[in-house]
Amino acid sequence: MTDSRALSDIGWDELQALDIADRAAFFNHSDGEHHVLMAQQFSRERMDAIGHLATCIRQIAKEEEGARFLQHLLWTKRTMLYFTQPSSRTFLSFSSACRIVGMDRGEVRDIAISSEVKGETREDSVRTFSSYYDMIIMRTEIGGFAERMAWLLAHAGRPVPIINAGSGSDQHPTQALLDIYTLQRSFEKRGGIDGKSTVFVGDLMRGRTVRSLAQLLSAYDDVRMIFVAPDKLQIREDILAMLRSANVPYELTDDFESTIAQADAIYMTRVQDEWDNTPGETGSIDISRFSFREEHLRVLSPDAVLMHPFPRRHEIEPQVDHDPRAVYWRQMRNGMWVRAALIAGLFGREQAILDYHDANV
Ligand code: NCD
Repeated sequence: MTDSRALSDIGWDELQALDIADRAAFFNHSDGEHHVLMAQQFSRERMDAIGHLATCIRQIAKEEEGARFLQHLLWTKRTMLYFTQPSSRTFLSFSSACRIVGMDRGEVRDIAISSEVKGETREDSVRTFSSYYDMIIMRTEIGGFAERMAWLLAHAGRPVPIINAGSGSDQHPTQALLDIYTLQRSFEKRGGIDGKSTVFVGDLMRGRTVRSLAQLLSAYDDVRMIFVAPDKLQIREDILAMLRSANVPYELTDDFESTIAQADAIYMTRVQDEWDNTPGETGSIDISRFSFREEHLRVLSPDAVLMHPFPRRHEIEPQVDHDPRAVYWRQMRNGMWVRAALIAGLFGREQAILDYHDANV
């Protein structure tokens, strides 16, 4: 049963003791999200609505007048981009998304120049941002920190929306949503995402994009997932348990080549060695068999798509980039539109965009 209490009415330990799906409900309201923290917040209907809104924004932005309409939507609002882990794509994508909907942006990307070097806690830093900004977009190495701050600010009486732009090796919900949007668009003429097989390849144990995307995909009908990784980097049990309870069939293997022909989508990832317990620990694992090479294009189905959240190392040969099935550059650009849609939704501007689109595009 859904808990009808507000986030400000529940203690932290009690919240953490809940099942993740019940926890997720605390960050939504009846029409959408109040924060974007975890993939479990998104139903299939909501993913469809966000995809549609992203497409409307993309189309509206093509005309100067439309771009101006979008820029007036949130011109009184300010956002803080608090990124204490390296980022180029996600940071720039959010920054551009904010600009599309007219939001002003501030940033802290290096704690060495913030008051954290004076001994200030992260919690106090984020609470400080909430005094000046109307939204906080954060990427941190601390799993669950964005959720913790959403809870803390609700209790502090400054419940500004928080967007998780990557937390620990745990979740990356906005990347997963842009991946879903890319799949929706790629399979538009083939019955959508239902019935499709996704092959995930690489460091599935510590790849937060894979974990969030597997969760979102499990909301679709008749999907199948194949997890291809060396034993030491294979997907964690919590994701497999989630798939079993959603009745999603899956396979685990370390033989990438045998999976290529079966795939509707292949999702490549890099080794996330920043999470090694001892530096270089995963350096000895042979990952050469977990990369997509030009010769694999011959085996890949003509309707399939090849994805990567980027950055890439050697997982996909650059010679593959020219192939129309290599959608990773498009996937990246899709992220900007999806993030603009999410931000507009957080501030209740969804209907205004749909109305403008209906009247003008
Ligand atoms: C990913 C991340 O940070 O988790 N990058 C991204 O946001 N597109 C993937 C990665 O770093 O490998």
